[in-house]
Amino acid sequence: MERNFTIRYKEFASSSLLQPEEKRLLDAAIEAADGSYAPYSHFNVGAAVEMENGEIISSANQENAAYPSGLCAERSALFYAHSKYPDKAIVAIAVAAKCNGKVTERPTYPCGACRQVLQESQQRGGKKIKIIIGSATKVQVIDSVSQLLPFAFDNLPREENAGPESGNKKG
Ligand code: THU
Repeated sequence: MERNFTIRYKEFASSSLLQPEEKRLLDAAIEAADGSYAPYSHFNVGAAVEMENGEIISSANQENAAYPSGLCAERSALFYAHSKYPDKAIVAIAVAAKCNGKVTERPTYPCGACRQVLQESQQRGGKKIKIIIGSATKVQVIDSVSQLLPFAFDNLPREENAGPESGNKKG
């Protein structure tokens, strides 16, 4: 039997067509790109995460001479948001990149590793995470991480593996 995925997303010609809170989040991501440390790729990425309480936490990619030691903007923002509010759900993330100080022509989509982390953030919060991807030519809005990462790895037997030393109450 053949089965298919259909990926749904919305596309807008400009961020001015977004809902006000979506635009606010995307603007925060664009601003956050200025905090990028990218002397190797010269690709400055900003990410802004919105918590269920409306708070925005933003971050940027941080590179290192030992290349794999660097971290993407998305994971940097997600991990900080979870560290600050371990029990609050993340409801949205916006991502945008700049090259030579200008927002890129094409959208910057989260890499595979960031999608996997986003998927667990969504699972952890129990609420859909909206993903807003900005660029100079269009803005795309995806309403759930499952649209971005079908067949996500989420199969660890969590309860059985969660011993007393395994972390906080949410495991
Ligand atoms: N990067 C991000 O921060 N987010 C993405 O979604 C894609 C890539 C960073 C990693 C590296 O610092 C630079 O962009 C070039 O790959």
